[in-house]
Amino acid sequence: MKGLRTEPLGGLHDRSSFRCGIPELDDYLVRQASQDVRRRVAAVFVMVAEERPKRILGYYTLSSFAVRTTGLPEDEMRKLPRYPTTPATLIGRLARDVGEPGVGGLLLADALKRILASAREVASALVVVEAKDPSAVAFYQKLGFIPFKGCPQKLFLPMRMIAAADK
Ligand SMILES: CC(C)(COP(=O)(O)OP(=O)(O)OC[C@H]1O[C@@H](n2cnc3c(N)ncnc32)[C@H](O)[C@@H]1OP(=O)(O)O)[C@@H](O)C(=O)NCCC(=O)NCCS
Repeated sequence: MKGLRTEPLGGLHDRSSFRCGIPELDDYLVRQASQDVRRRVAAVFVMVAEERPKRILGYYTLSSFAVRTTGLPEDEMRKLPRYPTTPATLIGRLARDVGEPGVGGLLLADALKRILASAREVASALVVVEAKDPSAVAFYQKLGFIPFKGCPQKLFLPMRMIAAADK
């Protein structure tokens, strides 16, 4: 992360030149992200290079989420109390500019670190992602995410694993 930083999306960032290859994720930055922040349905973080702080290299969004506990694989369910829902944190969107290979992994690592820190104050047992396509599923699976039962594009990572990796 040398020379890179992640910060909340702000007025100085140039949203219109960001291209990740999925128009819906580009448009989100231009049309929806600020509204979501204002309405408190998502926090939006962007990664920039210190020497060029207006250019967005990548971004992700975080929101509180609740998971139906019975949708989890059996072995995960056994590790959780039998509450109908389990508190979680959603990475709703995550994308990097097409010219910035390698930023995807950095964004995810940054998001997990931030989520772990906030889960110490407001508990969250899982991180959930909704992958846009099979390639995104492969990306998340390679980094340890586990698919929900019968829902291969929705994946989770237990917070205990994130905490263990942080030690
Ligand atoms: C998916 C995406 C974030 C990956 O970003 P990236 O910069 O290419 O990822 P990185 O190079 O940092 O890769 C991190 C790790 O994931 C692996 N990886 C990256 N893309 C992968 C893919 N499509 N399938 C399998 N593994 C993948 C890398 O090999 C690397 O593994 P390593 O740490 O063992 O070397 C990026 O392609 C993107 O923004 N795509 C468009 C938006 C999108 O699909 N977002 C995700 C769903 S919302």
